[in-house]
Amino acid sequence: RAHGMKITVIGTGYVGLVTGACLAEMGNHVVCLDVDARKIDILNSGGIPIHEPGLLEIVRSNAAAGRLEFTTDVARSVAHGTLQFIAVGTPPDEDGSADLQYVLAAARSIGRLMTDYKVIIDKSTVPVGTADKVRAAVADELAQRGHSGMAFSVVSNPEFLKEGAAVADFTRPDRVVVGVDEGDDRAAMLMRSLYAPFIRNRDRLLVMDIKSAEFTKYAANAMLATRISFMNELSRLAEVMGADIEAVRIGIGSDPRIGTHFLYAGAGYGGSCFPKDVKALARTAAENGLPSQMMAAVEAVNDAQKQVLARKVASVYGEDWRGKTFAVWGLAFKPNTDDMREAPSRVLLAELVRRGAQVRAYDPVAAEEAARVLALDLGCAPEQAGITLVNSATEALSGADALIIVTEWKEFRTPDFEALASALRDRRIFDGRNLYEPALMRDSGLHYLSIGRPAC
Ligand code: UDX
Repeated sequence: RAHGMKITVIGTGYVGLVTGACLAEMGNHVVCLDVDARKIDILNSGGIPIHEPGLLEIVRSNAAAGRLEFTTDVARSVAHGTLQFIAVGTPPDEDGSADLQYVLAAARSIGRLMTDYKVIIDKSTVPVGTADKVRAAVADELAQRGHSGMAFSVVSNPEFLKEGAAVADFTRPDRVVVGVDEGDDRAAMLMRSLYAPFIRNRDRLLVMDIKSAEFTKYAANAMLATRISFMNELSRLAEVMGADIEAVRIGIGSDPRIGTHFLYAGAGYGGSCFPKDVKALARTAAENGLPSQMMAAVEAVNDAQKQVLARKVASVYGEDWRGKTFAVWGLAFKPNTDDMREAPSRVLLAELVRRGAQVRAYDPVAAEEAARVLALDLGCAPEQAGITLVNSATEALSGADALIIVTEWKEFRTPDFEALASALRDRRIFDGRNLYEPALMRDSGLHYLSIGRPAC
């Protein structure tokens, strides 16, 4: 059994923190390292720097039990773990390829300081071939110290966590993908015993070669993003033809080859993974002389889809929105997170500001993060641009002409429609997530424009 393995996790972002906390919860002794002293301070004082359901509790309880520690001390973190997870950021370069500087710096620090066998595990989403670069970086550091003979393994272990469900995804995974070198039984055995407690069905641990493991991550996200862009494109067609994309979704999803999950047309995909991974895969394909028409299309459709709400607003109010006030429900790129990265709400808000509208925006948890990123997007405080961030869904409606729904938080699902109709001057809702039944909206006296369904 894996109990009591010594593990280091480098990087305390979403992936690193969830990985560290969940591995500690299984009884391992985990040290989490970050160069950002502010993050480590928050963690050491019993908080977490992100919003993720269930994470705070397991961070606190495992820290209290002494199984989970947070440090900025590189020497200590390298000395601690036999397993060294690299879970640092891989932001897109200007050309869309993943920037590996943090990954390789982490690898170098391990090579510089290790004194015994280590398994170095790429958890960050990295392009195919990164494990080779990690290996070279570690070997180079060892050689500089005259320790070329010191044994280490490099493993690829991509994550498939969904924000908002990350703890559950880690604890009860659909599958765990582990890429190891052929014949590296030592690393394979350690990875098997590490994940055994999380996997009741042994066939969910997929051991493969390193390049295939690295590629699997991109292939998975690219496939999911493709489904979404495909549905979004169909939704536009459904609208002009007078069909209902929700009926079509059920109609096609009941074929098990298609499946019902992840087929929702909406306001476009955002987040830290899909936009970045689609770009990176396109870049890799181009670099290898096989430019990807699919990825280019997936990205272009998504860029256009992020404009869909603004386009619908323009279809009703024309080009000039001065004197209009819009309530906006939901800012995070999806529910149960405060993550604003690549969120469709940012595209909408920029357009509302550009056309002179007043905005009253509400998000259950992302308000603070939204204020921060909007200031960057707009180049001024949101209030100065006419955006007021309010504390409840009802407050957002006050004085509004129409409501725009961008994120499908649960609390938006069953509003009091009569109250909505009387609060909104124009009795109008633009719904980017298809939360309501059009017929019900009509009965409540609301004008309702949603995605890929007949307007009413
Ligand atoms: C995703 C993958 O699901 C996960 O496996 C991977 O490890 C990281 O990227 P995440 O970005 O957290 O996870 O969010 P996810 O729930 O997958 O949603 C991504 C985006 O797609 C969101 O903007 C969401 O609104 C959108 N989406 C999702 C749709 O528009 N329609 C759908 O049917 C599903």
